[in-house]
Amino acid sequence: MTQIRHFLDLSDAGGDPIATMIGDAVTRKSARVSSPKGQPDSDQPLQGRVLAMVFEKNSTRTRVSFDMAMRQLGGSALILDSASSQLGRGESIADTARVLSRMADAIMLRTDDHAKIEEMARHASVPVINGLTDRSHPCQIVADLLTIVEHGKALPGLEVAWFGDGNNVLHSILEAAGLLKFNVRVATPAGYEPEVEFIEMARAGGAQVTLTQDALAAAKDADVIVTDTWISMGQAHAEEKLAAMAPYQVNEALMAQAKPDAIFLHCLPAHIGDEVNETVFEGAQSVVFDEAENRIHGQKSVLLWSFGLLD
Ligand code: CP
Ligand code: NVA
Repeated sequence: MTQIRHFLDLSDAGGDPIATMIGDAVTRKSARVSSPKGQPDSDQPLQGRVLAMVFEKNSTRTRVSFDMAMRQLGGSALILDSASSQLGRGESIADTARVLSRMADAIMLRTDDHAKIEEMARHASVPVINGLTDRSHPCQIVADLLTIVEHGKALPGLEVAWFGDGNNVLHSILEAAGLLKFNVRVATPAGYEPEVEFIEMARAGGAQVTLTQDALAAAKDADVIVTDTWISMGQAHAEEKLAAMAPYQVNEALMAQAKPDAIFLHCLPAHIGDEVNETVFEGAQSVVFDEAENRIHGQKSVLLWSFGLLD
């Protein structure tokens, strides 16, 4: 039997296929610049295919971008949320995986617990795609890499600087760094560093990873400045954490340290006045809405890879 192409993390695809994904996304995006958003791409490679999306957490971008990606590839998508499906009444992930595999051609899951998506993949007979877990957010990083590349920056040797919480999004950036050979400076307060496993993964792939508590030093001559919410979904709102994060806000003083052509990324939703101030968020170096749009184009590549149509 051909191996099912689950996309639980970026390493499931690997560096070369991710580079191919980015290239394909650039091509498809440019080919449909003047098309209405719901018009399918001319080749409709996923005609007749259905993606089942399961959400255990809120979403705007992931939900809409997967739906639009499927439409543009000629397929369609449907949405379940845990509260209104039998998952919310205790039906197992294993049974849900087997049922959805009989009814849909691929499954996307957003869940609070990475173990659940691993369980889903173990029992599914169709590709399972990670739409965010507590551990990682690989689809976001495909869009981020696409955004970086389309803003004229080559990935090998790139200096990416992260500020704030060592969270799921940072984990996937670190994983990408090892696969695509860029460097990551991580500026977090003590106790909020990313998991060691992801730092080691990046370094094993040849990326340089620097951990520091000095935000200005991390920003020095960086090509890309990135941050995310200080309190991720499912985490308790803690005043102590917010206070520890305050020196890591992305603001003009921090951006002034980076290269003059540095870009600012944020996966959104943003909390203006916390992890980023309004001047930077709305400023000329901010490409956050290109990044949000690129969720569609990046995910089209992820879907094509999962269906074995991109290598
Ligand atoms: N960036 C992102 O995943 O956004 P949503 O939570 O809106 O899907
Ligand atoms: N780190 C954030 C990302 C949201 C897209 C969270 O997990 O809530």
